[in-house]
Amino acid sequence: MTKGPIGVFDSGYGGLTVLKEITARLPAYDYIYLGDNARAPYGPRSFNTIYQYTLQCVEWFFKQGCPLVVLACNTASAKALRSIQQINLPKIDPSKRVLGVIRPTSEIIGNYTHTNIVGVLGTAGTVSSLSYPIEIEKFFPNVKVYQQACPMWVPLVENNEHNNDGADYFIKKYLDEILLQSKDIDTLLLACTHYPLLLDKIKAYLPAGFTILSQGKIVADSLAGYLNRHTAIDQKCTKDGLSTFYTTDAVAGFNQKASIFYGKNVEAKHLMLG
Ligand code: DGL
Repeated sequence: MTKGPIGVFDSGYGGLTVLKEITARLPAYDYIYLGDNARAPYGPRSFNTIYQYTLQCVEWFFKQGCPLVVLACNTASAKALRSIQQINLPKIDPSKRVLGVIRPTSEIIGNYTHTNIVGVLGTAGTVSSLSYPIEIEKFFPNVKVYQQACPMWVPLVENNEHNNDGADYFIKKYLDEILLQSKDIDTLLLACTHYPLLLDKIKAYLPAGFTILSQGKIVADSLAGYLNRHTAIDQKCTKDGLSTFYTTDAVAGFNQKASIFYGKNVEAKHLMLG
């Protein structure tokens, strides 16, 4: 049996906020992280572009021997996951698995709201896909979902401007816009893996009593449950507690910013995608 590490993918740095929680929850496993920084952000790109980029990265993970890949990116999960699962996986290798971040979050979000009205903040791609309203309805048909695209938030985080005064304007702008959609929203989901870095500033603009959900721990718990239930996949995962990091852009810049998202030093390798 070929064994390998678990692949964790994001368009850039955001998935590191998820990997951080996954490695804390499941420290025994090996991981390969790939940030497609050279082509980020994915948020404003078309369905087909996001699908092709994500598929190319998933195929690379499989070549590294990964039995399982987690798309730790809402935009890729929204635009590419279903096509990869239904069209590509059966041809590439039906024994491989690709999981996303939208379903694990949709499965639990209804447990947090008292008003049954939730807000989803994400990239333009995630919002326009309607993936969250569709998925949440399957698990919580009584929950009403309002969405807001926050196109300036990823650039603020990617440029390390998220803690500076200039960030406040755009943080307040999108929060005001979603709260205008319904005054009864009591739970906000940060449906982009970059947004946890904005959490302190987001909290400061919301009334007390709001629940704000980040995805890292939710996805980590869900992955733990998945590996527990799917022992055949679990047995194909190597378990030496090692993590390796790749970026499609320059390594020096990646290492510097990645540590902000990951909370630890990162020494990445460069990957040139053809
Ligand atoms: N981190 C990605 C997400 O969760 C989006 C970043 C991007 O636009 O590339 O949606």
